[in-house]
Amino acid sequence: MDVGQDDDLKDIEERAYKAGAVKHYAIDAKKDFAEGPIAMAIMANALYEDKYPLGTALARPLIAEKIIEVAKREGCDAVAHGSTSKGNDQVRFNETLMALAPDLMIIEPAKIWGMNRAEEVEYAKKHGIPIPNIHSRFSIDDNLWSRSIEGHETDDPSAEVPEDAFKWTVPPEKVSEPLILEVEFREGLPVAVNGERMDLVGLISLLNKVVGAHGFGRVDHVENRVVGFKSREVYEAPAALTLIEAHRDLEKLIYTPLEYRFKKFIDQEWTDLVYGGLWHEPLREELSDFAKSMNRWVSGVVKVKVFGGLTIIGRESPYASYSKDLVDYVSGWYPSEEEARGFIRMHVLHSLTAYRTRHKA
Ligand code: ARG
Ligand code: SIN
Repeated sequence: MDVGQDDDLKDIEERAYKAGAVKHYAIDAKKDFAEGPIAMAIMANALYEDKYPLGTALARPLIAEKIIEVAKREGCDAVAHGSTSKGNDQVRFNETLMALAPDLMIIEPAKIWGMNRAEEVEYAKKHGIPIPNIHSRFSIDDNLWSRSIEGHETDDPSAEVPEDAFKWTVPPEKVSEPLILEVEFREGLPVAVNGERMDLVGLISLLNKVVGAHGFGRVDHVENRVVGFKSREVYEAPAALTLIEAHRDLEKLIYTPLEYRFKKFIDQEWTDLVYGGLWHEPLREELSDFAKSMNRWVSGVVKVKVFGGLTIIGRESPYASYSKDLVDYVSGWYPSEEEARGFIRMHVLHSLTAYRTRHKA
């Protein structure tokens, strides 16, 4: 399945036949991935625990869905995947398989044979299945939206991850020039960069390249897995982090404070459901509809500067609920003294009533 990862598809096909496959399918799912789950993640500003843009979590249900299509076409009675019993991915794969194809048997060899990572690598070697070096050291999962690096040196949360774990980003100290980008959004989704229109797949691929080359896009945090323990997780996601930051900024320009705060809550619930492998939970669908509906106002242009981090340096929208006259200290509107004092008095009344009562007590 091509969800935009760095794999060589020809090589995967050869490895499939080497591993004993009788038939191999290569499915290009990049467009479906971008325009389905990723588009939703942008509209929901999806960052799990404020950090992780969900790349892996978003791709798993789609991968399972496409596998079901093939299984049905081929008349299969079982599907297999390589998840261990310790990760989140097993939940995501199985949830979709159980939701859409309850009659398909799910075979998980790594669990059945109780293999740890070293034993899996050993098994592959013994059976002549080559695995790239980086994959034997870390557990890498990459796609259009993020590249996650797990295992080995990352398991010690106190130690810095070695530079050779990274592939999409250069360290910011190696960057000498700032990068300025203008990202245009239409109804919640990015449609152009620096005035050039692009489809989502192209736009995300471009941002991963240029933003990553300017030293932005790494995440390093301790994550609460759904399976009951914490893990140190490292990601590269230059496009995802840029687009979500820009999108959230544009929403803030447009929404009322009530909308902005409520949407933040909806976004977080949506993100937690997706992370936790509950793609088919009906609430996920309802929250998606709400997020989509609110995004019909989110059009405009955001100006981004990438240099030792990312800063939004400008934004504009035909739906901005922003008034220069209201905010202008020099020549704009001013409330009268009476209006301002009256407002302040009522505004602080709840708090001061309680404050005085408690301090007297
Ligand atoms: N912790 C992330 C998640 O749960 C990344 C999982 C990465 N998967 C992998 N096979 N390395 O979504
Ligand atoms: C696995 O090896 O089980 C996948 C890793 C994960 O789900 O985080």
